[in-house]
Amino acid sequence: MALQQKGMHGAWVSRWTFIMAATGSAVGLGNMWKFPYVAGSNGGGAFVLMYLICILLIGVPVMMAEVMIGRHGRKSPINSVRDTVAESGADKRWGSLGWLGVVAGMLILSFYAVIAGWALGYIFEVASGNLIGANGASAGTVFENLLADPSRLVLWQTIFMLLCVGVVVGGVKKGLGVAVEILMPLLFLMMLVLLGFSVLKGNFAAAWAFLFDFDFAALNWRAVLEAMGQAFFTLSIGMGAIMAYGAYMPEKANIGKTILVVAFFDSAVAIISGLIIFSFVFATQGIEPSAGPGLMFISLPVAFGAMPGGVLIGSIFFVLVSIAAWSSAISLLEPCVAWLIETKNLDRVRANLMLAGFAWLLGLGSVFSFNIWSEYRLLGFTFFDFLDFLTANIMLPISGLMIALFVGYAMNKKLVEEQLEGTSQTVSSLWLFTVRNIAPVAIAAVFVMGIYDKFLS
Ligand code: PFF
Repeated sequence: MALQQKGMHGAWVSRWTFIMAATGSAVGLGNMWKFPYVAGSNGGGAFVLMYLICILLIGVPVMMAEVMIGRHGRKSPINSVRDTVAESGADKRWGSLGWLGVVAGMLILSFYAVIAGWALGYIFEVASGNLIGANGASAGTVFENLLADPSRLVLWQTIFMLLCVGVVVGGVKKGLGVAVEILMPLLFLMMLVLLGFSVLKGNFAAAWAFLFDFDFAALNWRAVLEAMGQAFFTLSIGMGAIMAYGAYMPEKANIGKTILVVAFFDSAVAIISGLIIFSFVFATQGIEPSAGPGLMFISLPVAFGAMPGGVLIGSIFFVLVSIAAWSSAISLLEPCVAWLIETKNLDRVRANLMLAGFAWLLGLGSVFSFNIWSEYRLLGFTFFDFLDFLTANIMLPISGLMIALFVGYAMNKKLVEEQLEGTSQTVSSLWLFTVRNIAPVAIAAVFVMGIYDKFLS
């Protein structure tokens, strides 16, 4: 069967736009906020190496599989999966794959917007000069005050959500396509400027050693699992985003090469973010690289507050983080919007407002879990931690595992071959072997160990 050229939502104007969009989805809080602190808490270099291996061995093959389903179906993830399952004559239950991803995407969007809101708020916090000369304690107080104030959190969360709606309402070509073509080059440029600053004003050599001195003694099983989870989250795998974006990909684009470029950009941004953040952190006495989630919102502002020009550099930094989060969040909204348009005959504006409204409402739970609901527990978690755990540690691995198994074993071989057109025989066989054998075993291990770690150990 010939590939359909385009679905009802339109298509990216070129392979390059797909690369920018998928990179926009991939590069986000996961790279700039989470990667540095997870690397920091796991001893640096050895973790980074494991993370890169996971990206190549599991992330890239599963991401390719996800794009294949999307590009074959040319619809929202739910309908692309359903059609591909039907055409492959596979068990209907595989159809739950699309639902799982899209539901996980909406849940993630709800709390992602809250954290992205912190970054937006910090642009002004840093730009106002409030943090000049701050030490760990005073910067900690600024952060705690923000978290303790639901009205400020809701304000930033709302602004961020409106920014996302503003883009997705414009559709694939004029909304998402134009946004990523502007935002991504801007993001790369700002990143290079900050890298320059970090070389000139930070302790770049120490940051380099921290991320690239591979100390294998520091490597343990749990760190390997964290590296794998991080590889999934950062590549936006298992949540419908990449499948939806794949549905708008030009039919001639080579999936393997394209996804490798995206994975390269994504890892480069994570590592450069790590270099920038640790250069600044190591340049300031008394700040630990293993500061955890507070690294970006407490340790880094202390570093900015101590350096000449720190107000400007710090403001650029938080603009950069906000842009990265923005281009990721739009990819969480689009899959569901596309589905509502297809199946409920809604127009784009209404579909957007409904879904963003839903994610916003659910996000209030995360906002309140940092203040007025901080005492409430769901299975021992705060509301925010619960959603984070449910999506990242349960829904995402199951979804990734199902994608690998479906494309590896149940999807019609001819449909798979069509998607691999232009890819060499060696690469195709290597991909198939990985997606059938290596990825499922590795993902299952993450899943089992993640649950064991949390509840049984
Ligand atoms: N990859 C994004 C990040 O690293 O921040 C997060 C994300 C975006 C996850 C979109 C999933 C997704 F569908």
